[in-house]
Amino acid sequence: MSEAKANAARSVLKLLPREGAIGLGSGSTVALFAEGLGRQVSEGKTKVSVVPTSYQAYRLAVEYKIPLTNLDLNPELLLTVDGADEVDRQLNLTKGGGGALLREKVVAAASRKLAIIIDESKLVDNLGIKFPIPIEVLPFSLGFVRRRIDTMGIASSIRESQGKLGPVITDNGNFIIDLKFPKPISDLAGTSTGLKMIPGVVETGLFVGMANEVHVGTATKSYVLKK
Ligand code: 5RP
Repeated sequence: MSEAKANAARSVLKLLPREGAIGLGSGSTVALFAEGLGRQVSEGKTKVSVVPTSYQAYRLAVEYKIPLTNLDLNPELLLTVDGADEVDRQLNLTKGGGGALLREKVVAAASRKLAIIIDESKLVDNLGIKFPIPIEVLPFSLGFVRRRIDTMGIASSIRESQGKLGPVITDNGNFIIDLKFPKPISDLAGTSTGLKMIPGVVETGLFVGMANEVHVGTATKSYVLKK
């Protein structure tokens, strides 16, 4: 599995611009990409700076000595490289397995191009069946939001922390709720918007129509899916 992730991470390195600001996603596949990016920076092959999508991404940039920037200095990014938990045939994504979906979506929206790196096991026919759809929720609103979601016929569970008692607290101080849909979601964009309209829901892990290309790694090679 990690060789498949490494092949996807290697494949996306060829998209790196010579210079400029790009987004650095989160997750274990992105960690492999960050290592490669750090090497290219140290060899002088690229002069990019990165907007990190999480504290994990920030620490990766520090570890690999990749220059940092932010959305105030660079509100428009040339490219973002990120992972995903599931990818469907239209290149819609489920993200948020690592709880970084809010900043990931902001950074993706600020980017001219979103390139996703995954191993082949993440390709699915329908999002939300194997992997739940996470949403980030303001803690104050938790009970209300779960009640609304319940009335929509969707099961929800609060994501529990590992290494600390209690719920996961995101980099933004919020909770994550994982949603289990009773059947395949027929209208992804409408579902994401409907969830976001519930007061207290900060963002959803559905990334609809945002990815431009997906670099898929297998144990022996990689290939690219484009819109
Ligand atoms: C974090 C994410 C990650 O990109 C996603 O969970 C994929 O992670 P990995 O590359 O470790 O499988 O969305 O919020």
